[in-house]
Amino acid sequence: MSRLVIVANRVPDPRERGASAGGLAVALKDALTRREAVWFGWSGGTAAETATTPRELRQGRTTYATLDLGEADYRHYYQGFSNAALWPVLHYRLGVARFAREDWIGYRRVNAAFAAALAPLLRPDDVIWVHDFHLFLLAAELRALGCRQRIGFFLHVPFPPRQVFLGLPNAQAILAGLAAVDTIGVQTEDDAENLRGALIAAGEAAVAPRVGAFPIGIDTAGFAALAARRYRTKEVDQLRASLAGRALAIGVDRLDYTKGLPQRIAGFGKLLERFPRHRAKITFLQVAPVSRGDVAQYRALRRELDESVGRINGQYAEPDWGPIRYITRAVARPTLAGYMRLAKIGLVTPLRDGMNLVAKEYVAAQDPEAPGVLVLSRFAGAAGELQGAVLVNPLDPDDIAEALDVALTMPAEERLARWTTMEAAVRATTATSWCKQFLAALEGEEAAAEAGRAGGRRAAGRRKAA
Ligand code: G6P
Repeated sequence: MSRLVIVANRVPDPRERGASAGGLAVALKDALTRREAVWFGWSGGTAAETATTPRELRQGRTTYATLDLGEADYRHYYQGFSNAALWPVLHYRLGVARFAREDWIGYRRVNAAFAAALAPLLRPDDVIWVHDFHLFLLAAELRALGCRQRIGFFLHVPFPPRQVFLGLPNAQAILAGLAAVDTIGVQTEDDAENLRGALIAAGEAAVAPRVGAFPIGIDTAGFAALAARRYRTKEVDQLRASLAGRALAIGVDRLDYTKGLPQRIAGFGKLLERFPRHRAKITFLQVAPVSRGDVAQYRALRRELDESVGRINGQYAEPDWGPIRYITRAVARPTLAGYMRLAKIGLVTPLRDGMNLVAKEYVAAQDPEAPGVLVLSRFAGAAGELQGAVLVNPLDPDDIAEALDVALTMPAEERLARWTTMEAAVRATTATSWCKQFLAALEGEEAAAEAGRAGGRRAAGRRKAA
């Protein structure tokens, strides 16, 4: 089997395996145990200049090859173009985006530097799989260096309608860069349609048929088992005891303005205002580890949330009850799995999200005898599969309040019926099946293309002979 080369801005720490690994590492785990692999990307560290030769570390059948980013590249490529321009535009938020020509130049420079550092590591029959918006131009840079390997690209975040994407000053160049990719994966059919539309509008119609939807999943059985195990630990006991019989609603998100946190907090406030019977009967735990804390928009969000949580707690708290518990530190995934099983409500209300794996994890974590209710944004990719959730418009705090009321008063049979359909969906598309399907599309095409080339060579041979 040919070697798999994963390229992503983030490279997992090889010491963090199993339960504490991040989403992409979990999703690729199966593929990485079955074949030789290289995982190439940013080390997470900075230096005066971006490194030209990666640091390599081998563990099992995977070699982790990482580069430090130069200070200026970190600012322009990561903070600037990736997180202040592409991230908001891809999440439909043109108004939040900040564009600067130096950021675009930095983005191009880092994509080229990654390609130049990766190319010498490549073998002719490697299969390359590039991940996410940080590296839109990587395939084109590899081609410019003469690399002929199959290259796949997967976009983990949404792709907006073309009228939105074309607001990005460099949209045309990004779309042209995708022409170097053999198979382009996105999360949902809507994203696929949007990306095809943008490619066609940019004069890249030939690339549009290479775009397909591959919804990502989780290790469903593994997460369910983890939640059941962790449910019986001291930390979950302590949380349960602190609730004093009250229902728990839980939210788990990076502290990011795409996650709809201000509207969610306001929605919880509206629940207490409009449905007073739930006062002192429910506690909302929001875990929101600080993310990209050195990007301006993220700092502003943190201030806004500090204020709105304080206001609602001040308004409704009792001496023996606080409505909202808000934690901006990271909580370990195994602990979160136990908390999710304890929570009667999972509150997942991003304004836009590629998929949202927390929604799937909440479903997997539930006790099959007494599952909780998922309140889910219509605008998360996961909403397509999780129709058993109580779906909300995440921009509308009143809608969130009404959904919370529905969830808190839902009869046990309905909870079970809704959860059963969602659990089946979460089991149908897992991390492993996502990975297999994408690689089958990428490598299947390779087999077909190879057969085509062989057929072409045979035909050319026949023409010569004639
Ligand atoms: C999203 C993106 C990932 C990114 C992650 C964390 O899930 O799709 O590519 O790695 O956020 O963000 P960070 O900027 O910390 O890598």
